[in-house]
Amino acid sequence: MTAPLTHQPRIAVYPGSFDPVTLGHLDIIERAAKQFDRVIVAVLNNLSKKPLFTVEERKELMKETTAHLPNVEIDSFRDLLVNYMDQKQAHVIVRGIRTVTDFEYELQMASTNQKLNPRIETIFMMTNPKYSYLSSSMVKEIARFRGSVVDLVTPEVDAAMRSKYSEMTE
Ligand code: PNS
Repeated sequence: MTAPLTHQPRIAVYPGSFDPVTLGHLDIIERAAKQFDRVIVAVLNNLSKKPLFTVEERKELMKETTAHLPNVEIDSFRDLLVNYMDQKQAHVIVRGIRTVTDFEYELQMASTNQKLNPRIETIFMMTNPKYSYLSSSMVKEIARFRGSVVDLVTPEVDAAMRSKYSEMTE
């Protein structure tokens, strides 16, 4: 009798600052979720940066944003990405590329990770052109000056940013 065919689950990690998650990030996550058995969205807990949202807040907003995707889970890390990948037994890093400017930084990061751990592969997904100009920094800038970000983030992220910026001006 032949043994049933089994395969190692294909686990991808989508790492980033996600301060906050935008619809551009969501587009990449939805597409990655179709390509892999599990996608772990890993929020960087970078102690040297001063983010708008705490890592717990960023994770919570990410959970709400991806609640419709059953094979997507949210986590955080404060280690080298390749060490975190080992811990999770994941082999693939997913990153979105918006413009040629992104490419140089992404190439440098992918090559560094490749050098640190040749077992790990970085896969790039082209950002949907409708979000090619979009970044978390732009979204924060617009929200800080009370502009509308309704087409750029989910309603929950919109509300969270409004609340942050109104606390800051009180
Ligand atoms: O959303 P970002 O800020 O462009 O994401 C950058 C991120 C989190 C992917 C990158 O800074 C990272 O992996 N940091 C963890 C530390 C690390 O492994 N550095 C070596 C690879 S450059």
